[in-house]
Amino acid sequence: MLVRLQLTNFRNFQELEFLPFEGFTVVSGPNGSGKSNLLESIYYLGTGYSYRQMHDENLVRWGADFFSIRGEIRQGNRQPIPYILESAYQMTARRKIIKINGKRDLPGKVAAYLPVVIFSPQDLLLIQGPPGLRRRFLDMVVTQVWPQHAADINYYKGVLLQRNNLLRQGIDLSSQMEPWDEQLVAFGSRIISRRLSVLSRLLENVSQVFETLGGSIFLTGAYVSQVFPSSNALPRADEAYCRDLFRTALKNARSLDERLRVTTLGPHRDDLRFFLDGHDARFYCSQGEQRLIALSLKIGQSRILAEERQFEPLILLDDVFSELDAKRRSQVLNEFCAHRQVIATVADYSGDYVDKYQLTPSIVSLHVRSL
Ligand SMILES: Nc1ncnc2c1ncn2[C@@H]1O[C@H](COP(=O)(O)OP(=O)(O)O)[C@@H](O)[C@H]1O
Ligand SMILES: [Mg+2]
Repeated sequence: MLVRLQLTNFRNFQELEFLPFEGFTVVSGPNGSGKSNLLESIYYLGTGYSYRQMHDENLVRWGADFFSIRGEIRQGNRQPIPYILESAYQMTARRKIIKINGKRDLPGKVAAYLPVVIFSPQDLLLIQGPPGLRRRFLDMVVTQVWPQHAADINYYKGVLLQRNNLLRQGIDLSSQMEPWDEQLVAFGSRIISRRLSVLSRLLENVSQVFETLGGSIFLTGAYVSQVFPSSNALPRADEAYCRDLFRTALKNARSLDERLRVTTLGPHRDDLRFFLDGHDARFYCSQGEQRLIALSLKIGQSRILAEERQFEPLILLDDVFSELDAKRRSQVLNEFCAHRQVIATVADYSGDYVDKYQLTPSIVSLHVRSL
């Protein structure tokens, strides 16, 4: 659990020290006081990335040159000395630094120390938004299970960039392409096979959760990729199998790639799809149903992490109750009320958790507005 959080120049916070409680903490404060920013910083501490922004520059307080986040983590009661996680970003040097107990490490590695799951109104974009958001979500869950995944994605992106540069030059470069293709296939197939393995676990949990949340219709999901022959079943997660198929698909797409001067297939183009009763959720579901699928995805993520790590992830609930009806609200609270640590934000706290859900949260008010 997170016992202390210190922020410097993160979003609207010049300096902030936050001491979350064990159990359920409610952070209340008016709109614009920084509640979402606070949860975003905790998410960043546990993942090395923001869930809202691609670019770290946006997280630096306006006018400042860096941000830093420092957190003290305690795992279980027996561990007397807390782990220290630190994340910082320096704008002029464009440098991100992640430290675990004072030693530099790769961004994904923090996921093993502080698994977090965030619920926010933006979760709807997991269904409605562009494929990149779904890939990012899935890759984050994979990274939380296999911290090495984040580094493999970076390698893959580097190789992809080189390959695309060659394609852009547009001359006959077959001999130069080969080594890049080999690496693209090596990293790419590892990425795909891990995604498939996590996705099948996720979908199992998600359709179960969806059913209990009152989705009477059957929820299924698919991994959409030109690497695999199209089919409704999830492809096998076996790495060697993925490697063979990716290699072949890449060869077959070579002349298209050369014509379009870009790598047209691979994990960077893949997508997830969800279906209710066989209908694509993105196009045929109501906003309410889409929200329920997104909610199920996040609960599924938290169940997988609990299984994987033998302890529950830290749950961040950003203003989610305002959008759920009473029944769903109590189902969500039921799911998490026994968790060791939950931090929820609300615009104004009226004490209704205590009455309705028999929860006695610790209340923190956020007055800070230091611009
Ligand atoms: N990089 C930044 N530097 C300074 N302030 C920022 C930055 N990014 C966002 N803000 C401010 O943070 C405020 C929003 O905080 P937010 O966490 O969304 O509030 P809440 O969730 O409590 O409604 C906005 O008023 C915005 O001006
Ligand atoms: Mg907010």
